Amino acid sequence: MSVVKGVADSFFAFPKDFLFGASTASYQIEGAWNVNGKGESIWDRFTHTHPSWIKDSENADVAADSYHLYKDDIQALTDMKVDFYRFSIAWSRILPKGDTSLINKDGINYYNNLINELLKHKIQPMVTMYHWDLPQPLQELGGWPNPLLVDYFEDFARLLYKNFGDRVKWWVTLNEGAEVAAGYSSPRHYAPGVEAPGVGDYLAAHTLLRAHARAYWLYDSHFRRCQGGNVGITLNSAWVEPLADTEEDHTASERALQFMLGWLAHPIFTEEGDYPLVMKERVAHNSKAEGYSHSRLPTFTADWITALRGSADYFALNHYSTLLATPGDAGGVPSKDHDAGVVMSQDPSWPASASSWLKVVPWGMRKLLNWIAKEYGNPKLIITENGFSDQGQLDDVGRINYHKSYLSEVLKAIYIDKCNIIGYTAWSLLDNFEWTRGYTEKFGLYHVDFSKPSRPRTAKSSSKVYAEIIRTRKIPQGDEQ
Ligand code: NOJ
Repeated sequence: MSVVKGVADSFFAFPKDFLFGASTASYQIEGAWNVNGKGESIWDRFTHTHPSWIKDSENADVAADSYHLYKDDIQALTDMKVDFYRFSIAWSRILPKGDTSLINKDGINYYNNLINELLKHKIQPMVTMYHWDLPQPLQELGGWPNPLLVDYFEDFARLLYKNFGDRVKWWVTLNEGAEVAAGYSSPRHYAPGVEAPGVGDYLAAHTLLRAHARAYWLYDSHFRRCQGGNVGITLNSAWVEPLADTEEDHTASERALQFMLGWLAHPIFTEEGDYPLVMKERVAHNSKAEGYSHSRLPTFTADWITALRGSADYFALNHYSTLLATPGDAGGVPSKDHDAGVVMSQDPSWPASASSWLKVVPWGMRKLLNWIAKEYGNPKLIITENGFSDQGQLDDVGRINYHKSYLSEVLKAIYIDKCNIIGYTAWSLLDNFEWTRGYTEKFGLYHVDFSKPSRPRTAKSSSKVYAEIIRTRKIPQGDEQ
């Protein structure tokens, strides 16, 4: 094993059937926010009402204008010869009111055109049903903390399977539920910006999980036999390394992973199901001490525990960076951070990106993949996002080094550690609207000129390296810098 270790990246080629893709999300690229019958989403409302909460006071009313320029996007994907394209559906483009009382034909047409054009170019669509842009009318009902959204989401999922499932074989129900839940915890970071830490976020995640399970079993019972696709859920996590090699720091890092990833993964991917025990115990304990009559972490019925268990055909992971953990007081009271009781930091020597949270720590990828394999019985796994931010320069050496070094850790996880990884998705195909960071942090393999109404796309150096990786199934050697 030690012989193989240092040369793994030059030695190994990705398996023949390994899938390479690129990813985007509707709100971040489409624009056309109120065009041809699209309804308002919580991100439309958030950016329009609170421009000062966005770093450059911008919004995604036009963004990369992919609603009109999707063929240019597909040209870029074709140039790189990706196997699949992960994009998301704007719920409010199809159901402007959130419910099925109004179906917007134009929205269905748009995604049909996109899917058909992809298939024409031999690119598989991977469709995320929900990437954060809830129809505003559903937020008026309380949004994700309201359990009614389980039914609304199931209706939305049914419509998607019916209209697109003949051609879509990879489904992701929800993107990064932990971040969706954060929209009900602190006001300035994510729409809808409801401030109810330690309560709203737990309630939102509770609904999200059940909505996912409903969509999964709906597919299983009504669509799988004739459509034969895969349904998963994208979960996100940093790797969490103990700050020091002490028992306390090891325990803290494990606890942090359970609060971050286990929160949504444990109910689906373990045999026992339900939330991780450490979460149930700590939130119950804190809630009692804070004077609550019950735990702020909601309880699943036995039926829901059963429904959630095994409700994914593959594990979809978004991963970018690593954190260091030591036990201690974090967050206000109440809050999920306080419940976790872990103080997080990053090593100042780790290379930076344009995003304060994103430090380049390739070995964290391999450790996280191993942790997931061990914790959840080595599930079939697709990395649905991994990427690097900069200022948008065309000669993007930082991004090239990032993808090369992270992919080489993926190779080690496949060949040395025997993790069952079947695909990798670069975030992102295009420069786009990076939520509250606006257009100040760019993740694209393709540059978009946001100053021009025609939003021209230009290939960055990284897109050429990515194309070479896809063509050769190997990581080219040598440092770019
Ligand atoms: C995760 C999210 O899914 C995506 O929307 C975001 O742009 C990237 N990470 C980068 O922050």
